[in-house]
Amino acid sequence: MKNLVILTGAGMSAESGISTFRDAGGLWDKYPVEQVATPEGYAANPKLVTDFYNERRKQLLDVKPNRGHELVAQLEKHFKVTVITQNVDNLHERAGSTEVIHLHGELTKVTSSWHPNNPHYIKELKPEEYEVKIGDKAADGSQLRPFIVWFGEAVPMIETAIDYCERADVFLIIGTSLNVYPAAGLLNYVPAHVPVYLIDPKQVPIASGRQVNVIRKGASEGMEELTRILVGEQ
Ligand code: OAD
Repeated sequence: MKNLVILTGAGMSAESGISTFRDAGGLWDKYPVEQVATPEGYAANPKLVTDFYNERRKQLLDVKPNRGHELVAQLEKHFKVTVITQNVDNLHERAGSTEVIHLHGELTKVTSSWHPNNPHYIKELKPEEYEVKIGDKAADGSQLRPFIVWFGEAVPMIETAIDYCERADVFLIIGTSLNVYPAAGLLNYVPAHVPVYLIDPKQVPIASGRQVNVIRKGASEGMEELTRILVGEQ
């Protein structure tokens, strides 16, 4: 089977009711990014940041995967699919995708605030544990922090993601404004002969000048169209 590598962003989950970040009314309009998504913000006000991610976690219980997530999962019948997502929700997994790389962490996990990337301290929360409190401790005695890659922090999964991009036979981008690096640079690792598709209702600037097949639609409609292109009528 051919390798299909799919890079997704907040637009993938928009039709499930999760706000994007940079569209009008997006999350970063409501919550200053420096306060809730940087190590400095966390150091200054851990309670505010903990509550922000508690709220995001609670929202996971109210949303479900959309048709776009489902169609991404169904492509596993025809391709070896790897989803590289910037999203911290679990909607790809819940739609049935089996190979999901989370570049920016996962809402359902927490970790040590001293050693956030030490696998020993990363813990999956059960839904009844979604509300983390100040005073809840990781196994090393530090305050539990969200397992989220904040601005200014390293992106440990980027090397793994690059390896998949280098081996892609088809590359697809869905619902990301390609503003945030290193994720936005992954297209540069996709070999030049590999067809690239992009699904987004808005125009997304491609820095490299690379030829991209643009489907100017939302994730669900766009995935219907892309499925027809890649595997024909079902
Ligand atoms: P953005 O909010 O920057 O971009 C969302 C993209 O989704 C835009 O290009 C929209 O046009 C598109 N979009 C909106 N509705 C859509 C729909 N129904 N279907 C498909 N696309 C749609 O979000 P990201 O690019 O994902 O990081 O942002 C990247 C990172 O910046 C996030 O992972 C997050 C954020 O700060 C961290 O929190 C570390």
